[in-house]
Amino acid sequence: MAKIEIAAEAGMCFGVARALDLAEKAAHEVEGPVKTLGPLIHNPKVVSELEAEGVGVAASPRQAQGSTLIIRAHGVVPEAVEEAKAAGVHVVDATCPYVQKVHHLAEQLSRDGYTVLVLGERGHAEVEGTLGHAPGALVVNSAADVRQAYESMKLSRRVGIVVQTTQTKARLQEVVSELVPLVEELRVYNTICEATERRQKAAAELASRADAMVVIGGRNSANTTHLAEICSDRCPRTYHIEDVSELEGSWLAGASTIGIAAGASTPQKQIDAVRARIEELAGK
Ligand code: F3S
Repeated sequence: MAKIEIAAEAGMCFGVARALDLAEKAAHEVEGPVKTLGPLIHNPKVVSELEAEGVGVAASPRQAQGSTLIIRAHGVVPEAVEEAKAAGVHVVDATCPYVQKVHHLAEQLSRDGYTVLVLGERGHAEVEGTLGHAPGALVVNSAADVRQAYESMKLSRRVGIVVQTTQTKARLQEVVSELVPLVEELRVYNTICEATERRQKAAAELASRADAMVVIGGRNSANTTHLAEICSDRCPRTYHIEDVSELEGSWLAGASTIGIAAGASTPQKQIDAVRARIEELAGK
């Protein structure tokens, strides 16, 4: 009989669960339409379930006129909230408190005259939101980016760093080591959120023992895709699914340990459904 194990840390992080909770509450308690600014999370199934509960998606603050607008866990630039309020939209800010902290620190560094560096992925919604809180801030993602900023005279003698919550400590270390000899004063705020790292470590540990791994989460979710990569490096029979209906019995044939991992935007009920289906397929 196959053993089915869920990674010790799997599924929704605190910030995403909180945003979903706020959206569901608004759907039930608020009068009039409720919309999220962009899809609430990178999980198409959850987004369509929300839609069924009456929570739509607005592409811009203007599109939310006459609605309650939920700001997602990743956060937004301050102008988006101002624009919504100016259009008479009622705003529910579901920005994760850890992301809010990054915004405040970036703002403070900028006010105190530091060149602000945001270590993160250019174009990612969280990074764009942080940039909006520190005008003139630069995005860096490697030692080479730091070197380039220095050579093009974009760094002042005082530099402050904040970090996109999903970045790794190794990347932060790389960027800091490059900066130390280049500046007079360096202020580093390690704003990495441990939730991502804990999920990655737990998935890696399980994948190294499992004969087959199922990773649940949106294909458009960077953190779930990365989780699936980590697992397939350790367990070649790794399958990334968005929905329980995708599971195939042949994937699990002959496996004595079947592992389940899930990204930070995967709700517990999706994990439970996948576990139940695997039990059926594995003949438990
Ligand atoms: Fe917040 Fe960390 Fe999740 S920053 S949204 S709790 S990954």
